[in-house]
Amino acid sequence: SAAEKGGYEHFMAKEIMEQPKAFRDTIFPRIQQGRVVLDDLQIGREELEGLDKLYIIACGSSYHVGVAAKYTLERLLRKPVEVTLASEFRYCEPIVTERTMALVISQSGETIDTLAAMREAKRLGARVLSIVNVVGSTIARESDDVLYTWAGPEIAVATTKAYSTQLALIYLIGLYFADLLGTISREEYGRIVDELLLIPTKLEQILENRKDIQYFASIYFNHPSVFFIGRNIDYAVGLEGSLKLKEISYIHSEAYAAGELKHGTISLIEPGTLVVALAGYSQLFEKTMSNVVEVKSRGADVLGLTVASKAEDMAKTTDHTIVIPDTHPMLLPSLEVVPMQLFAYYVALQRGCDIDKPRNLAKSVTVE
Ligand code: G6P
Repeated sequence: SAAEKGGYEHFMAKEIMEQPKAFRDTIFPRIQQGRVVLDDLQIGREELEGLDKLYIIACGSSYHVGVAAKYTLERLLRKPVEVTLASEFRYCEPIVTERTMALVISQSGETIDTLAAMREAKRLGARVLSIVNVVGSTIARESDDVLYTWAGPEIAVATTKAYSTQLALIYLIGLYFADLLGTISREEYGRIVDELLLIPTKLEQILENRKDIQYFASIYFNHPSVFFIGRNIDYAVGLEGSLKLKEISYIHSEAYAAGELKHGTISLIEPGTLVVALAGYSQLFEKTMSNVVEVKSRGADVLGLTVASKAEDMAKTTDHTIVIPDTHPMLLPSLEVVPMQLFAYYVALQRGCDIDKPRNLAKSVTVE
């Protein structure tokens, strides 16, 4: 009913709008006097120091959180992080030992591939830390440690607030472990925590400007094919933006690491192809923009996404530009993903799709 949807037309819209609160609920109780407090975790410094690898295991959008997390955690912890789809992990003879931590990410806590992969990791000796939304779910119960996302129930098949709160926990885990390991300076730690606390307000700003995204959707909703490009964490968000769009609007889309375009995909760019270019990550802004120039010169329509401090620069080349607030580079995915969710939502709305229940998809996949 309309009441259940909080006055919104779809659960997805309601859940997109709930993200500032969900993010707040997930991080604020775990930050005290500028320090990350994860009392629910049993793992201590010595065990952490002994780890030689983190293995992230997940499916779907939770896997995309893992892709972003690899960049973030390797930078913070200086330990190798491998990220694998649960359905691949099961059958790849993974190199897992007692010195491996398996970081399992799942909204439902019931996805069968993820659960089976987790059991396999445990059997091989890994210590399992899971990030789960549904309290008491199977993955939560069988993990050595669990951190809950406090997103509340998520009804729409296409995940939004669960993705955002999973990311939030990645930052907390990264800061907490980096502090224990001594791989982060006090200044950097403080800077990231300060910026983290500002994310919910910045999410509110982005949501207030959602009409801009609706306008871009009204221009592009009939494009038959869309490419999302970006580098580093921008690429990770591109993967999620592409999945959101294809799952609810049924438009063919692909995400590419921008530098990889020239190795094949650029042959598909022709007049009228839509390219969504993510370039929030300032260190690689120029690099991504050189790829934007390449696709523009082949006739693509380009919808860019960047931070306020780069917006003017980007707008010289793109057709339209989505602008998000500046933040610490590590936290960018949290701000970037919301316009991507809104874009998919408004495109699907224009196309008259069944947004909350897209064809052939299930909220929780409990068969292999
Ligand atoms: C399904 C859902 C996706 C979700 C994936 C993993 O495919 O439609 O939105 O990302 O499962 O689900 P999980 O509950 O393990 O995060």
